[in-house]
Amino acid sequence: MDSILVFLSNIAWWGWLLLVLIIVAIRDIFFQNSHTISHNFPIVGHLRYWLESIGPEMRQYFVANNREELPFNRIERGWIYASAKKENNYEGFGTDRDIYAHQHIFINNAMMPYELPKNHPNTFDHCFLPCAKVMGEFNKRKRPYRPASVINVSAMSFGSLSAKAVESLNIGVKIAGAYHNTGEGGLSPYHKNGGDVVFHFGTGYFGVRAKDGGFSMEKLVNLVETNPFIRAIEIKLSQGAKPGKGGVLPGAKITKQIAEIRGVEVGKDVLSPPNHKAFSNVPEMVDFIEKIAEATGLPVGIKAAIGKLEQWEELANIMLSTGKGPDFITVDGGEGGTGAAPPSFADHVSLPWVYGFSDLYRLFKNKGLSERIVFIGSGKLGFPAKAAMAFAMGADCINVAREAMMSIGCIQAQICHTNRCPAGIATQKKWTQNGINVPLKSERLAQYFKTFRKEFIEITHAAGYEHPCEFKMSDIEINVDDHNLSKELHRTYMYEKTIVPFKGMQHLKDCKYLGGKN
Ligand SMILES: Cc1cc2nc3c(=O)[nH]c(=O)nc-3n(C[C@H](O)[C@H](O)[C@H](O)COP(=O)(O)O)c2cc1C
Repeated sequence: MDSILVFLSNIAWWGWLLLVLIIVAIRDIFFQNSHTISHNFPIVGHLRYWLESIGPEMRQYFVANNREELPFNRIERGWIYASAKKENNYEGFGTDRDIYAHQHIFINNAMMPYELPKNHPNTFDHCFLPCAKVMGEFNKRKRPYRPASVINVSAMSFGSLSAKAVESLNIGVKIAGAYHNTGEGGLSPYHKNGGDVVFHFGTGYFGVRAKDGGFSMEKLVNLVETNPFIRAIEIKLSQGAKPGKGGVLPGAKITKQIAEIRGVEVGKDVLSPPNHKAFSNVPEMVDFIEKIAEATGLPVGIKAAIGKLEQWEELANIMLSTGKGPDFITVDGGEGGTGAAPPSFADHVSLPWVYGFSDLYRLFKNKGLSERIVFIGSGKLGFPAKAAMAFAMGADCINVAREAMMSIGCIQAQICHTNRCPAGIATQKKWTQNGINVPLKSERLAQYFKTFRKEFIEITHAAGYEHPCEFKMSDIEINVDDHNLSKELHRTYMYEKTIVPFKGMQHLKDCKYLGGKN
């Protein structure tokens, strides 16, 4: 035995290395047949796989220029990180963007900016920017709701996000006076930290699911009654990253807690079909909306990505003839994010936000319906200049998902679908979640929202207005080539926005439906 140990201890380090390489080579050639490259080029073939696996990080850190990456480039991410940390988010020496590029947005500034009068709400709070419309006012819902912030957290479920991420977002919206959309996973304990909540459900009816997998009104009413911070209900028809695509929640992922929150059985696969069981056509959907609004007293809206317009036209006609229908419509752009989607869907199905929203808004505007709907936009709109464009087109609020994730530490690793999120945000792994400092991250989300609103107000003032709801299509130009060819939004998208009735910021501040008031 001793002589064997002496022999082994006499082998040099390079001898051990050689031995390992020989074993790997034998394995590559004789004991695996799934990788041709490592079979044909033993040992060195592994280098290719390794380099490929770290390629995204290498490109992100060293190769890609500041404006190159998608979905969010380095400048955009940097602006969110700095804003969330209340650090210097300015840039020096002028823009590094090609402002002559196609699709570049120009906001037409006034000769003299809007000047705040004495005692204006924004002299006391530079970030006070509520929605100029009240959800549910037209339809006379029992509990109308004016979002106290024009920027809010978009639908992302507990399940796609970690418990600590959801908790950080909820405390964050409470600090910022915004709302938190639950996403499709039901209302979890992490949504109950004091922020206003918009309860969202899709075809899986998680959280309000009957035994047969359909919708349970009884459960929804009970949920709303026991959780008064739920301010509105959003029915998901589709989302930009995967419209019309159902999903499977694998039984292996269904822990006891997730089963309780979603109202499903532990360990059993759960299907989210592409279609709703509760309605199968537009008139039935309107009835469904009305029943929910009647039973809960809350404003009810729908969320969708836009493609064909025929069924939207049918909806508008029903709204016109019956005076009923959704209190708000959330339009998601085809560029929207998700926890997981097939690339063919994410890349190609549904229109990008500007095309989808302009088609939809024009349709409702032409029927004279735009005043009674609160329009919410989502799809990379969490930047003040983009929000200005969205408001000029008719949006009343912005929902942000990935921008909110970045404000609490997401590094755009783009592996939300693998449960390996290194930032502990889009994962259920305890170890990586433990890196999230909830009080700090909630402050960051809140600070991002406040900085966003402050800059958005400043841009609004620069254009000569008090509130962004006053932006008109002609205030924003979009580059189609030379200035003689660059077109204002109304000439590009062929409609004029309906003017939002606005009686001043003080009027919004005094509103009894203003969110965040408990
Ligand atoms: C991790 C993650 C989970 C999401 N979950 C949902 C969901 O449950 N329901 C839904 O309608 N949209 C969901 N979305 C889409 C977002 O709510 C949002 O519409 C989309 O990402 C566009 O906003 P953004 O560009 O600010 O990310 C999810 C997005 C992400 C990134």
